[in-house]
Amino acid sequence: MVNPAQPPTSEDTPASEDATAATPSPIPESIAAAPLKTLAIDIGGSGVKLMTLDEAGEPLGDRARLDTPQPATPEAILATIAELAAHQDRFDRVSVGFPGVVQGGVVKTAVNLDESWIGFDLASALETQLAAPVRAANDADIQGLGAIAGQGVELVITLGTGFGSALFIHGHLVPNLELGHHEFRKGETYEEQLGRAALKEIGKKRWNRRLEKAIAALDRLFNYDQLYIGGGETSKINFDLLDRVVIVPNLLGLLGGIRLWNA
Ligand code: BGC
Repeated sequence: MVNPAQPPTSEDTPASEDATAATPSPIPESIAAAPLKTLAIDIGGSGVKLMTLDEAGEPLGDRARLDTPQPATPEAILATIAELAAHQDRFDRVSVGFPGVVQGGVVKTAVNLDESWIGFDLASALETQLAAPVRAANDADIQGLGAIAGQGVELVITLGTGFGSALFIHGHLVPNLELGHHEFRKGETYEEQLGRAALKEIGKKRWNRRLEKAIAALDRLFNYDQLYIGGGETSKINFDLLDRVVIVPNLLGLLGGIRLWNA
């Protein structure tokens, strides 16, 4: 994958070619100095969101959103992204968060989307569609990249359709952590107990009690220095959080995308 943030160096061009190459015309200053714009995309179980960010990761416009199409196949979601991206200004590169394990741009798991995602090369497909370089990662990892301080053991969980998780040690991501599908209590996983379907079924009061138990269980397991809780359902949290536990804005699922390019 080409990283446009890295201009070619003289080492990229063999000396023999240098001698014969025509002198390139100088790049006009206005273009050379143009900051790179990143289109940040967040594919979710209920919504597909995107916004354009400047080089510092600041939003350049409002967040755009469409409901996740059903069935949530790669083709349907790519069409949704195309529709949303058509209304954005120029961008130079793309970051995309996906609700499943992503390795080398390829989707490995997709519990809350259509199973035809498994094995789909998301980064390559989007590069072709959007004609820009793409970096893809797990959605909770991106949320975490936007939230962490880079010190000690930092755990991130996200509460939305699914239960996302990301672990960072001194700012380094531990890849592929999928707490959501790990057993939590009563023979059920964290996602079964705390995902959106559970919240609808048991209501806010019981869901909050479960969440308190999960926060304590995760502390016993990871002894985290800091726990960040993101995702759309954080608005339902109604108990006082312990020190070392903080709710982060859901927008970090888009804003954190800049870090895929700055890492
Ligand atoms: C997926 C995770 C994802 C989370 C939140 C889970 O079902 O397995 O990879 O981060 O949902 O979208």
